[in-house]
Amino acid sequence: MQESVNGATALGEERAAVNVSASLVDLCVRELQLCGVHEGETVAVLSQGEERMDYASAFLVAAGRLGATTFHVRVADVSSSAGGEVGTWTVGSTPLAGNRPAIEALKQADLMVDTIFLLFSAEQREIQESGTRILLCMEPVDNLARMFPTADLRRRVEAGQEILSAAQQLRFTNPAGTDITYKLGAYPVMTQYGYTDTPGRWDHWPSGFVFTGGADDGVDGKVVIAPGDILLPFKDYAREPIELTVEHGRIVDIRGGVEAALFNDYMESFDDPDAYGISHIGWGLMKEARWSGLATDRRSIQMEVRSFYGNVLFSTGPNGELGGSNETACHLDVPMRGCSVYLDDEPVLVDGDVVVEAMR
Ligand SMILES: [Fe+2]
Repeated sequence: MQESVNGATALGEERAAVNVSASLVDLCVRELQLCGVHEGETVAVLSQGEERMDYASAFLVAAGRLGATTFHVRVADVSSSAGGEVGTWTVGSTPLAGNRPAIEALKQADLMVDTIFLLFSAEQREIQESGTRILLCMEPVDNLARMFPTADLRRRVEAGQEILSAAQQLRFTNPAGTDITYKLGAYPVMTQYGYTDTPGRWDHWPSGFVFTGGADDGVDGKVVIAPGDILLPFKDYAREPIELTVEHGRIVDIRGGVEAALFNDYMESFDDPDAYGISHIGWGLMKEARWSGLATDRRSIQMEVRSFYGNVLFSTGPNGELGGSNETACHLDVPMRGCSVYLDDEPVLVDGDVVVEAMR
């Protein structure tokens, strides 16, 4: 009797596993359709070690269903800290570095699915520059489904791109005392809406925000991270204010209590003056993403809390992604609530709410 019960359970689990992978393939088919994958294209998947083999398989099957030629580049596991619960989240160094044959192969693809995290690396830039579009995918499957991209999200993010591109200056404030100004125009405005059908363009499924960078010496003021704002990669909500003074695009002072000390110690650990630079600035527009997402789910790299509607995503460190020269491995993303954003003194966000109709 016991045996047959166990047997039935094992069979049930096996069926459930088949269903999960079948639904992941279906999800990948829909995603690759949004990415414009069609018959005659080549789709490559990049993975490392044993990580996300189920994702790699699902994308290969999905791309094949759409008539694409597919291949898989799998390199040795170098770092899993981007998606894991432990480790310093360093950016820019990847297991593709120096691997000429793999890089050349990936440049042959029309679309490359990255399951490692190549962002901020020279290898990613080279592959993009060859015209290959890149889709990063490493979040848990249920998040891929729940925050599945839409044409409406793209429309609203691109509306944000248009108004941000036209501005000379971005200023943002919050009730905790933030008041900082970014001189714009030095760097392009970039979008993330969760899929990419444009040659050479990168995106991350799931995500939904628009961003740019201030001139290297053109960011000045104060950022006061307020309780409830989110510290990444710490994967934690701030419980007390952290006050950052920024002069000429560099953090020159960090004040507050124990969380400010933690912030400071983390930056110091890189022993790199470029760690104190200012990285991308923008705001989130995804309505399915929740501020509270991190409270119950600490998996992966937290695109949900970077994307939630009305957050200002303040960040420090590298700006190679935007075409800048800061290549530090120290990158902090800080989604902030309740902020107001002004572009050339015109309000875009007021107290954390989007006030431009085309983005609502
Ligand atoms: Fe970032």
